[in-house]
Amino acid sequence: MRSSLIAGNWKMNGSLQSVVELIDGIKDGDAGQAELAVCPPSVFLMKVGGMLDDTDIALGAQNVCNHDVGAYTGEISAAMLTECGCRYAIVGHSERRSLYLESDELVAARFAMAVSAGLTPILCVGETLYEHEQGVTEAVVAKQIDAVLENCGIAGFAQAVIAYEPVWAIGTGLVASPELAQSVHHFIRGKLAASDGEIAQQIRILYGGSMNSSNAADLLSQADIDGGLIGGASLKADDFLAIAQSV
Ligand code: PGA
Repeated sequence: MRSSLIAGNWKMNGSLQSVVELIDGIKDGDAGQAELAVCPPSVFLMKVGGMLDDTDIALGAQNVCNHDVGAYTGEISAAMLTECGCRYAIVGHSERRSLYLESDELVAARFAMAVSAGLTPILCVGETLYEHEQGVTEAVVAKQIDAVLENCGIAGFAQAVIAYEPVWAIGTGLVASPELAQSVHHFIRGKLAASDGEIAQQIRILYGGSMNSSNAADLLSQADIDGGLIGGASLKADDFLAIAQSV
C-alpha cells in the first residue's frame, strides 16, 4: 500500500519571517494521515530543517546539481542538501525546464546525483498546453521518463517519486480533471511496470498543478494518484493542511 505524500513547493516565495510563520502554522495543525514535505528556497533550508527536527515533516530542495563538487557557481550539491537535512529534491520542474532550459538529459543527471547521495528525487514530468492540445501527452511524458531510465535504469526509480504536472495547470487555476490525471498516472505506472512490476507498484506518483483544498479530494481518490505537489496552496498553512486532510 502506498502512503500519500503531500509536498509543498514554495518556489521563490517568502522571507525569513514568513517561512517561520508558515512552518509554525503547519506544525500546529493536523495533517491527517498524509506524509508531509516542504521544499523551501535553498537559503531557508537550514532554518526550516532545524524547525522540523522534532516532527515527521520531511524537508526537500527545489533542485540539485548534476555534479558532486567543484566549479559550478550557483548550484548546490546533493551532499550539501543531505547535510541540511533534506530527504527529497525536486528535479525537472517545468519552470526549470522552460525558464532555465534544463533538458531531459540534464534533469536525468540531476536525478542520478540525488539517488546516489541517498536523496529521493521528485521527478516532475508533464506536457505543455500545445502538447496537450496536440494529444501527445503520453509521448512527452514517456520521453521525459526514458531519459531517466537511460541514465539510471529502472533501479533509479526504486527510490524516487514522480510528479505529473501538466504545465498548463501550474499556477493557472486550470486543474486537470481527476479522470485525465488518473489516465496519465496509470500510463506512467504502466510504463514503469514494463521494466519492473514491483517498482511500478510501490512508486508514488503525485499530481501537481493548481491543486487546492476544493479539488484535492477528487484527485486524491483516484487509484494511481498518491499525493500532490502543491505550489500556491502550500504557502498558507491552513490551505496546505486542508489538502493533506483530503487524503
Ligand atoms: P501550483 O504549482 O500548485 O501553484 O499550480 C504546482 C507546482 O508548480 O509544483
